[in-house]
This record gives sequence, C-alpha cells and structure tokens, in this order.
Amino acid sequence: METVRVDLPGRAYDIHIGPGLLSSAGTLMTPCLARQRVFVVTDDNVAPRHLDRFRAGCAGAGIEVSSLVLPAGEATKSWARLEEVVEWLLMVRAERNDAVVALGGGVIGDLTGFAAAIVRRGIRLIQVPTTLLAQVDSSVGGKTAINSPLGKNLVGAFYQPDLVLADTDVLTTLPRRDLLAGYGEVVKYGLLGDAAFFEWLEEFGPALRDGDTAARVHAVRRSCEMKADIVLRDEKEHGDRALLNLGHTFGHALEAATGYSDRLLHGEGVSIGCVLAFDLSAQMGLCAQEVPSRVRVHFRDMGLRTQLHEIPGGLPDADDLVDLMRQDKKVRDGQITFVLARAIGEALVVPGVDLAPVRALLSDALATPAPVS
Ligand SMILES: NC(=O)c1ccc[n+]([C@@H]2O[C@H](COP(=O)([O-])OP(=O)(O)OC[C@H]3O[C@@H](n4cnc5c(N)ncnc54)[C@H](O)[C@@H]3O)[C@@H](O)[C@H]2O)c1
Ligand SMILES: [Zn+2]
Repeated sequence: METVRVDLPGRAYDIHIGPGLLSSAGTLMTPCLARQRVFVVTDDNVAPRHLDRFRAGCAGAGIEVSSLVLPAGEATKSWARLEEVVEWLLMVRAERNDAVVALGGGVIGDLTGFAAAIVRRGIRLIQVPTTLLAQVDSSVGGKTAINSPLGKNLVGAFYQPDLVLADTDVLTTLPRRDLLAGYGEVVKYGLLGDAAFFEWLEEFGPALRDGDTAARVHAVRRSCEMKADIVLRDEKEHGDRALLNLGHTFGHALEAATGYSDRLLHGEGVSIGCVLAFDLSAQMGLCAQEVPSRVRVHFRDMGLRTQLHEIPGGLPDADDLVDLMRQDKKVRDGQITFVLARAIGEALVVPGVDLAPVRALLSDALATPAPVS
C-alpha cells in the first residue's frame, strides 16, 4: 500500500492506494471513526460487485455498515437524490462525528461529498473511489457538486474528505471505456506538470490499461500527488488549481455539444481537449510544432479519441463551440481562460486568449475528414 498525504492545515488526510484495500477497509478507517459504524452510499453497478467485500472488510474490524444504493449514472447528481441521501442519513441517525462513505465513481463521490458537507453542517466523509477517474481526480481535492437543470456542477461545496481509500483491484470490473476515460485524466497530469511521468506513461500506459497492478498503483499515486500538490497551493481555485483544467475548456464545450451523453465521456473529451490545447499552443508559438503530435500519438495508441470526427453524431460549427466555451462557469467577464503549454509537462494558465485562432483551429479540426478504413 502507498500513501499520499494531503497536508491541508487542520484538515490533513491520507490517500491510501493499493490492491485489496476494501478487505482491510475497517482497519484503515478506524482512526477516522468515533464509533464502530459507517453509512455507505453507492450505486447499483458498484453494489453487486464490491459492496460485500467492503462489508466484510468492515466486519473484520467490528464496524457496522448501513447502505443506500442509488441508480448509476450522471442523472443521480440531482437535487432529488441529494435530498434522498441527506434524509436517509438523518433517518438512520448519522451523527456529526460519524462518517459517510462514498463507494463509487465520481457521481457517487460528488453527490455524497456534498451531502456530507451539509448534513448537520458537516459530517465526516470517507471516499472509496471505484473508477480510475475518481481515484486520480474526483475523490481528491474536496470539490463536491450536483447538477442543476441549468448546467453541470453548478451547485456544490468545497468539502475535504477525512480519508481516501483507492483499491486498485476494483478497477478490474470497470468497463474498458470508463477505464480509458479515466486514463485521459492521468495523462493530463503528465502533460500539465511532469514530463518524466508522461514518458513513463508512454512506456507503461499499455500495461496499466491491460491490468498491471504495479503500473496502476504508480499512476494513481503520481496523479494524486500532483493533484494534492496543486490543491495545497490553491484549494479554492484562485490561481494554480486552474492548471487541472488542461484540455477541459475544449472538452467541456464538446461534452455540452453532445448533451453530456454516452456519445462522449468526460475523460474522452479531456483527451481530445488536451490535443487541441497543444495544437493551439503550437499555433500561438508557445510550444514547438512537433509536440502536439507526440501527445496525439500517445492518446491514440492507448485507444482514446483524439479527433473531432471520432465523436459519433454531428457537432455544431466552430462559432457555436466557442459560444459553448463562453458558458463555462470558469469564464470571467466574458474572457475565456485557456490552459496552454510551453512543452510537455509545462502548462500555464492564459486568461483572455484571442478567440480568432481558437475558431480557426476548431474549423480546421471539424473539417479534418475521418480516415478511410
Ligand atoms: N469533484 C471533482 O473534483 C471531480 C473531478 C472530475 C470529475 N468529477 C465528476 O465525476 C463524475 C464522473 O465520474 P466517473 O467517470 O467516475 O463516473 P461514474 O461515477 O458515473 O462511473 C462511471 C460508470 O462506472 C460504473 N462503475 C463505477 N465503479 C465501477 C467498478 N469498479 N466496476 C464496474 N462499474 C463501475 C458506474 O456505476 C458508472 O456506470 C462526473 O459527474 C464529474 O462531474 C468530479
Ligand atoms: Zn476532468
């Protein structure tokens, strides 16, 4: 087991990473518990696959488990489900010193985290992320949210967990497409701040994808270290934390354009978005011309999408995509901030980018025909 400590003053917590952690969940959680009881929120894909092992891991340490199983899917990050989780926690008499456990992907983590932040003005939170995306990104750093009918993640709170348990064994049941989408975020860390990690991914990414435990543990650990480091510098996103949005300005517009549907998963949007961000950086003369193709080749070799024509169904034109970027909640005074790069591993936040080259880049990308197969 490896451990990354997130050293926020007064709210420090550990991220434990390794195979088989569910089976020792009880022992690992005990230091965070005021009594031998936890309240688990999970979804109906994760429950049949992993809840029993979590329960057994708790029973071994004498910890009683109550659970709430919600429908899987993004639609669960709603006001109605938030109410359900909050009322359930009150009904089962979760006390302020008790811990609620989010056992699932980013959807369960974001929803449960937000519920934990507001029940009794804040009860303890333990994240047990079960997707690669949740292990490297959403379970760490304290952002919680639900969606509003007006947009994604528009309602939420910053609320740090007391503990994160990332059991790499649970990833074996994750559909390959979800695993690869999570991998898009892993690559992002290398691209934004660690060229050596990107090189490591070029070499060991395929092993990670194909189930190598040591490679998975290493990638989750390095990703969490990088996220923790950025969150420590800028917990509430006034500055450096925006680096984590590399690929996301483009990616969010593409997700919005495809209705947040199965046509494009978040991490898939991030992989196309990272390639576009490097293309833009090269066009603006920030990075060398050959860098974007190295980025594209790695995503493609791993089986991720890198081009707009790989998104099934039509896309809006470049003007409309730029309009979608303007609606992002990170836009200030109509100015769009991009995360661009000087090189692999050297990203920078650039506010107020001129939109003409962005439109031109998107027009070209939309016009690139699908290769004849
Ligand atoms: N809080 C943050 O900082 C942050 C960061 C990134 C993303 N997010 C949020 O995370 C969400 C996406 O997270 P996600 O990709 O984990 O989605 P998800 O939670 O919907 O999980 C993806 C799918 O995998 C299933 N699943 C989960 N674990 C499994 C397992 N071990 N085996 C088999 N199936 C499993 C889920 O039921 C779901 O169908 C979005 O709502 C996004 O906004 C939050
Ligand atoms: Zn993301």
